[in-house]
Amino acid sequence: MAFETRRLRRQSAIAASAALIGLSAYLVSAQSGVDSAVNAAFTKYQNLQEGKNADYIPALAKVDPKLFGIVVVTPDGKVHTAGDVNTQVSIQSISKVFTMARLIQDQGPESIEKRIGVDATGMRFNSIASIELIQKGGGGGEMNPLVNPGAITATSMVQGNSADEVWNKIIGTYSDFAGRRLTVLQDVYKSESDTNDRNKAIGMLMKAYGYIKSDPMQAVDLYTRQCSVGVNAKDLAMMAATLAFGGRNPVTGKQAISAENVPYVLAVMATAGLYDDSGKWLYHTGLPAKSGVGGGIIAISPGKFGIAVVSPPLDDAGNSVRAQRAIRDINQALGGNPYAVKARTATTTNNNQ
Ligand code: DON
Repeated sequence: MAFETRRLRRQSAIAASAALIGLSAYLVSAQSGVDSAVNAAFTKYQNLQEGKNADYIPALAKVDPKLFGIVVVTPDGKVHTAGDVNTQVSIQSISKVFTMARLIQDQGPESIEKRIGVDATGMRFNSIASIELIQKGGGGGEMNPLVNPGAITATSMVQGNSADEVWNKIIGTYSDFAGRRLTVLQDVYKSESDTNDRNKAIGMLMKAYGYIKSDPMQAVDLYTRQCSVGVNAKDLAMMAATLAFGGRNPVTGKQAISAENVPYVLAVMATAGLYDDSGKWLYHTGLPAKSGVGGGIIAISPGKFGIAVVSPPLDDAGNSVRAQRAIRDINQALGGNPYAVKARTATTTNNNQ
């Protein structure tokens, strides 16, 4: 009997180690699958020459157009990288996602839906015509927190007794998502402050039409500061991963927003994250995403990965050329499209009957 027990114990120990070896082999190959997808996209697009740095903010024209970094963060918090993932660029419009997330968390999903809207404008991100169309009524006028009129309004809605208090909430939220303390790139902030007359006009118009209820110039200044926050590809991918994994930063474990609020953030990103090219982007990738004129794009495959690419040259819609191509390829290789579900087999169906 004692011999039999020992034999059975030995057998189950062998089975357990075989299972462990199998599991770790599976994990290693899944991880190396991510690495090879990231490396393949980097090699394929490294020398792509299309697009041009944004130059309506003079500091952006000075950024090295060759800068190219790709990062994927998987559910275990592992960071898969290729290229330059440490050089900082300004976050620009990607910031709009995280101010919106903060508002949804503090004031509820209906706050932005009622005051700003959650529909695509189909127009440029800084369109004034889109604001006027809403006033005219009769259709065609829409807004959301990811175009400048909606974003400046969103920033004006963050509560605080002073501009500093509002700013600390904004930068604190971005830092929780990134998992490190983020700061403003002062040269970009100065450059954009010196040239943001159009955003000031948008701020005044939004005040005139009752969207902004506080000092519009304070809202524009805070918005300009939030767009000038410095991030590298790793920061952006970690911010994306926090949204991919229920609002919890997969490395620090900090809950940046509650899990039930994440779908609202992702829905607006899917609708309007790449501006007037959002429909085409969603058609090809299925991924909620957001671009910035600093050259970054983040995208989220819910539950699977967060991805970010930084590469300054932009296409005509204001979206990074290399970032769009690299994310499309990596998403395809990793099966990240949430709408792409394999059909159930006939055997499975029959078994369930
Ligand atoms: O307000 C602006 O024009 C910039 N701070 C941000 C624009 C932006 O990133 C649009 N991106 N695609």
